[in-house]
Amino acid sequence: ASVVNTFLPIVNEEIAPDGFSRITTLASGTFPGPIIRATKGDELKIDVLDKLQSSSLDLATSIHWHGLVQNHTNYDDGPAFVSQCPIVPNESFLYDLSVPDQTGTYWYHSHFRAQYCDGLRGVLIIDDPNDPHKYLYDVDNDDTVITLADWYHYLSTEAPLVPAFNSTLINGKGRYPDGPSNVSLAIVNVKQDLRYRFRLVSISCDPSFNFSIDSHQMTIIEVDGVNTQPLLVDSIQIFAGQRYSIVVNASQPVANYWIRSLPNEAGVARNYSNLNNLAVLHYAGAPSGNPTSDPTVNIPVSQIPLVETALHPLVPTPVPGSPTPGGADININLDVVLNLTLFDFEVNGVSFEAPTVPVLLQILSGASNASDLLPAGSIYGLERNKSVELTIPGGAVGGPHPVHLHGHNFHVVRSAGSSSYNFDNPVIRDVVSIGNSGDEVTIRFNTDNPGPWFFHCHIDWHLNAGFAVVFAEDVPDVHSQVKPTKAWDKLCPAYNAFINGTSG
Ligand code: C2O
Repeated sequence: ASVVNTFLPIVNEEIAPDGFSRITTLASGTFPGPIIRATKGDELKIDVLDKLQSSSLDLATSIHWHGLVQNHTNYDDGPAFVSQCPIVPNESFLYDLSVPDQTGTYWYHSHFRAQYCDGLRGVLIIDDPNDPHKYLYDVDNDDTVITLADWYHYLSTEAPLVPAFNSTLINGKGRYPDGPSNVSLAIVNVKQDLRYRFRLVSISCDPSFNFSIDSHQMTIIEVDGVNTQPLLVDSIQIFAGQRYSIVVNASQPVANYWIRSLPNEAGVARNYSNLNNLAVLHYAGAPSGNPTSDPTVNIPVSQIPLVETALHPLVPTPVPGSPTPGGADININLDVVLNLTLFDFEVNGVSFEAPTVPVLLQILSGASNASDLLPAGSIYGLERNKSVELTIPGGAVGGPHPVHLHGHNFHVVRSAGSSSYNFDNPVIRDVVSIGNSGDEVTIRFNTDNPGPWFFHCHIDWHLNAGFAVVFAEDVPDVHSQVKPTKAWDKLCPAYNAFINGTSG
């Protein structure tokens, strides 16, 4: 194992990935940000320096390493006002991530307001030298990472109540429906007869995507950092924050093939025009240019299978709790509604509003009961070493909503659209769609990681509108078991001084 040092300056840049130029907030000046890659057991030291200066965008920042469970290191998790204060301009913060056990495909993004919609999103990969799936593929490198994103022509700070994306980007390239048609699409290069491990990463702020490659099936081998039994599929419905590793065999005639990523926003598919939502799978030796097949084929959302119940971990681990519905030590229902008067989301009647003091700091400053923590009504105390069952109905307007838990991955014992439970070998992941009205999703995890962990809709606009709670796990042991680095201390005084200076 070694130390991987990464310098990640956060900057404002004007870019035009779909042909429309706008100011953005980016990691290292690119969209997506640089791929951060390490090997199992490495220590990642990521030095985030805030170089933001745009007067129309958020100037502070905070980065979350999505999917890394941060075992006993809650203070490096990133969400603003849950585990830290934001980093202010010209200041830096060193995220020190040791990842002893996890491997696979992750990502990082701003976790301050809706800043990641302005561009601050990138991929993080932890390679496993002993990958049990290695016999299935020949190529796995930075060129075989495929990111799916939505893109906006307005700034997150100026977004309307119900934001709608202008375009979608595959590997940072795309077009918008009425935009210039000379903007280049992403090209994924393959050589005939090699087998590729593509790492499909949804860095979406909102829509899910139906992903497919013309004339090629794909074998899913990893979901959200957990190896799965190989599963052959024609397409993948992938929600904001989710990742899949897929093996694609370049076994077709040398040619160009469409890679399709049809976005679904609030359950509605957006149509193709002007070659948007497309990229090109290019076989070496084929002429350069676009495929000749019809780019406008649409698959109705209703016909896209959610393959979740067919996915199983390669090495199943015991489902926490007993194998009956409601059979965990702690069973929690989370009912979500969109309040149409206030236009916010409420979880069990309460819309999440960020506290002024991060929840972790409240605990380390002496709050020893979860019930004393702010924001009141949004904090759920969980005792240590218990099994937890969360049940979430899918009906809230604007769905299907993909929910994400920090600090853990979880067993999905009941998936959207399914009435049966799987307590034997359900998929383990960190973002799950709760489906539509009538659906109900049930997940399980163990409280083995002290600290406050965010649980929220990964549609960033919905998180911003209050679709979130915090699980304050094992509060009494946080003092002895979670020891922030010294510099963590300095974030809040610096942020408060910055806020006061700005407003005064
Ligand atoms: Cu990827 Cu709290 O998020």
